[in-house]
Amino acid sequence: MSTALPAPRLVDRFGRVARDLRVSVTDRCNLRCRYCMPAEGLPWMAKPEMLTDDELVRLVGIFVGLGVEQVRLTGGEPLLRRSLTDVVARIAQLQPRPRIAMTTNGVGLVRLAAPLAAAGLDRVNVSLDTVDPVEFADLTRRDRLADVEAGLSAARDAGLVPVKVNAVAMRGINDHSVADLLAWCLERGYELRFIEQMPLDAQHGWDASDMVGGDEVRARLSERFALTPLPATDRGSAPAERFLVDGGPATVGIIASVTAPFCGACDRTRLTADGQVRNCLFSQRETDLRGPMRDGASDDELAALITGEMWRKAKGHGIGTQGFVQPLRPMSAIGG
Ligand code: 5AD
Ligand code: SF4
Repeated sequence: MSTALPAPRLVDRFGRVARDLRVSVTDRCNLRCRYCMPAEGLPWMAKPEMLTDDELVRLVGIFVGLGVEQVRLTGGEPLLRRSLTDVVARIAQLQPRPRIAMTTNGVGLVRLAAPLAAAGLDRVNVSLDTVDPVEFADLTRRDRLADVEAGLSAARDAGLVPVKVNAVAMRGINDHSVADLLAWCLERGYELRFIEQMPLDAQHGWDASDMVGGDEVRARLSERFALTPLPATDRGSAPAERFLVDGGPATVGIIASVTAPFCGACDRTRLTADGQVRNCLFSQRETDLRGPMRDGASDDELAALITGEMWRKAKGHGIGTQGFVQPLRPMSAIGG
């Protein structure tokens, strides 16, 4: 009989196991997307509150020891962290080496895609909601569409494939142009996924009746493309419902996070830029790792804090139910 202890795992009370860690490396951003931030920006975290590179890499290593297989770097806008390439290189040294992905707005990718790939970044998701320059400037409040387009090509050229594009449809801004975005992505070989707008904006302006639902996006895309649903069997914890476009092989995904939540299959956990572990985007609480770490906690003590917070993970987000309260932290300070 083997005496080896089973590897510790990030399990919760509902039997879900977290294997995907999302790390917000900064809460700052160079865009001001309407579903995320107010025009004037937000009071950013002060530098001393943020994890240093050493602290961040140490915590990611503890999560990897607890069974995390994929690390996704997010923000704010992750490319704004000056040391990002170095952080990626250090995460790539962890054993076992996790897959390393990033969710970015793409603005800085022209310069950073190649160095990040060389440092060990495996894949990117680029947020791009429209390829109409007027709509882009309206939605993000910045005139940076050309940078994002060039950033996407740079990602593909650097081998960060498959390049995925995340889009949120907002009523009255880009909801009429979703098929144009799909056509644009198909021409370039980018894998597009639409995500329903969630109540995570700092201004608390989200309105259920105004949200463009996944069904509506599908109907609009179907006006121009034949969509064939792919079987959900191999979907696993991947939240996107995927469709073959015009018989394939290209696909498009629709993530109905609000109208068809995938909480039951969730395999995610989160670390904020100031060192708090969050078990859900919509959690009302978090566990501080930075304080104990700076007070000298051991890796085992920090691991116990992490598994304790996972055990408190709720069954679902409850958006639309009575008693739902939007989290205190906006998306830009949690990480997507
Ligand atoms: N609802 C849905 N998606 C959002 N994102 C940012 N805010 C929201 C929101 N309120 C997306 C971004 C990016 C990822 C981090 O999450 O567009 O793709
Ligand atoms: Fe920046 Fe992303 Fe928020 Fe847009 S959604 S303002 S790109 S953090």
